[in-house]
Amino acid sequence: MDSIKVFAPGTVANVACGFDVIGLALNAPGDEMILRLSDEPGIRITAVHGADLPLDPTRNVAGVAVQALLDKHGHPNVGIEIEIFKKIHPGSGIGSSAASSAGAVVGANYLLGEPFTKKQLVRFAMEGERLASGAAHADNVAPAILGGFTLVRSYRPLDITSLHTPDDLWVSVIHPQIEVKTSDAREILKQKVLMTDAIRQWGNVGALVAGLYQEDYGLISRSLEDAIVEPVRSILIPAFQELKLKCVEAGALGGGISGSGPSVFMLSKGEAIAQQVADTMNLVYAPLGVDYKIYVSRINTAGVKVIE
Ligand code: HSE
Repeated sequence: MDSIKVFAPGTVANVACGFDVIGLALNAPGDEMILRLSDEPGIRITAVHGADLPLDPTRNVAGVAVQALLDKHGHPNVGIEIEIFKKIHPGSGIGSSAASSAGAVVGANYLLGEPFTKKQLVRFAMEGERLASGAAHADNVAPAILGGFTLVRSYRPLDITSLHTPDDLWVSVIHPQIEVKTSDAREILKQKVLMTDAIRQWGNVGALVAGLYQEDYGLISRSLEDAIVEPVRSILIPAFQELKLKCVEAGALGGGISGSGPSVFMLSKGEAIAQQVADTMNLVYAPLGVDYKIYVSRINTAGVKVIE
């Protein structure tokens, strides 16, 4: 096989309480990418459709992620061409850079005969995140590659595990069309946390994981709380508090900022409620004069998928 097309899903990182450690994958939106083996050694980004991103492979997250894979693979003469069809807007908070990085390493790995496991690919994709945001966080690339919910137990050493996804869990996401750079959204965070906030946060993280395994939607709902990051970042998002309140009134289990924002996600039990929540997002945002997009999606348990 010398050419492959992949679908690379958007992702919701943090999932309220799990800053930098919990993430989930979406069915929509997602990018598509074509990767081709070439006789000419090195990586070439042949085109990026739908976004203004660098073609220079050392400045493009897909190029950097595949380079990390090739460095480890140890075959300097391999040539790979990458064509990217962006559907996830950069700076949206729905894992745009992660989708490009994840899709690129999964595609390249297939072309090379799968020398690496999916878990090993996460480390290469993290290099794309390092380029995009200055921090090699894994809470977008891990769910993008592995699918479902993932948890980063530790960064050093890297220890990532997949979590159970309840069947009837749905996500509604609103993406206000303003750009928040992850690097900026990380810079405004405090570097120290209060012990009382930390206790609340790790209680919620543990309970969220338990809620997922027990398919206890009440426990999931009570765990979707962020005492540390959301109070700082939410000021960047128009009508954030009203949006959250109205979505919960409409039946959402809870939610928060998607990754570093400006997108906001809400989890719901069942498609019908997730749709009502999406309608509520629409009602809150329609009068604001800010363009936005809304997505309703079941959790994507497959991760990056080969489609051709
Ligand atoms: N955990 C990262 C952050 C995700 O919140 O900065 C960025 O999408």
